[in-house]
Amino acid sequence: MFSFTSIHQQIESEIKSLHFTYPPKSLYDPIEYILSLGGKRLRPCLTLMACNLYTDNLNNAIRPALGWEVFHNFTLLHDDLMDKADRRRKKPTVHKVWNENTAILSGDAMLITAYQLIGQTESEYLKEILDLFTGTALEICGGQQFDMEFENREEVTEEEYLEMIRLKTAVLIGACLKTGAILAHAPAKDAINLYLFGVHIGLAFQLQDDLLDVYGDPATFGKNIGGDIICNKKTFLLINALKRANSQQKEILKQWMEKTVFEPNQKITAFTKIYNDLEVKELTKKKIENYYEQAIFYLNSVSVEPQKLKVLTEVANQLMGRQY
Ligand code: IPE
Ligand code: IPE
Ligand code: MG
Ligand code: MG
Ligand code: MG
Repeated sequence: MFSFTSIHQQIESEIKSLHFTYPPKSLYDPIEYILSLGGKRLRPCLTLMACNLYTDNLNNAIRPALGWEVFHNFTLLHDDLMDKADRRRKKPTVHKVWNENTAILSGDAMLITAYQLIGQTESEYLKEILDLFTGTALEICGGQQFDMEFENREEVTEEEYLEMIRLKTAVLIGACLKTGAILAHAPAKDAINLYLFGVHIGLAFQLQDDLLDVYGDPATFGKNIGGDIICNKKTFLLINALKRANSQQKEILKQWMEKTVFEPNQKITAFTKIYNDLEVKELTKKKIENYYEQAIFYLNSVSVEPQKLKVLTEVANQLMGRQY
């Protein structure tokens, strides 16, 4: 079995060897840019780690794993445009360095490149992996649309929010793990349990992301703080703040949400104060722990020697306390 570090190194070097140097330069430079900024490389590592539970030969899983990472990076280009986000991975976003149309078209080219990589899956597994990829990508589009729609809705329930993050974030993590299981010819039941492990890690992961968007250190997090507050994102924090707020606090939140012209820092400060007073940070942390426990339950249901599950348990553990 391989360590996380060794799998991560392998993914890094495979990503470096993806070259986008053909013309037009203006289409491929932004792709090289976003892929060279790193990021955690969580998704392709999970594909290889799931595969590694069953075999030390990970060759079959490398191209599909890269496909998932390129796909993830494509979603970030479009997401940053939709969220009007200026920073990612400690650098200006693609639409800031270039322009909005470039972020759209280079993003499109990345989605097509992702299909190209997924298409290099060994023929025996190609149909299943392609169906998983296509189905998951459509779910993510759905999640992203709900996320935007909720910005303009006054009332969003916690249940609706959880379904939205399952779609936009969690199914991708589940699908990456399932890909590794399928390519290793794992029992179908294991593939399902690894998928569910990923979905629950993914739910916790997005909750942590929402938390860091308010409470993170911008220098470590690599993204601007308060972006969700500025956009009226119906995050777990805002939904629960609205639920817990007294009439005065509710009025303050509602008034800020209605403003179209405002000083961003003032809105962020006002929201954060109410979040602090209502202890929604603690509530979010509890929810994260809850999903983490459910995730571990599914992981422990996978039928390999418990010893082999340690690497994935450790990764899950690290993600729970992540600061970026
Ligand atoms: C960012 O994903 C998008 C979310 C689902 C919150 P990551 O936090 O995995 O981003 P990178 O790839 O490590 O930069
Ligand atoms: C990310 O959600 C979901 C996708 C990119 C599909 P966010 O909008 O919260 O991600 P960040 O915070 O920009 O990374
Ligand atoms: Mg975003
Ligand atoms: Mg978004
Ligand atoms: Mg976010």
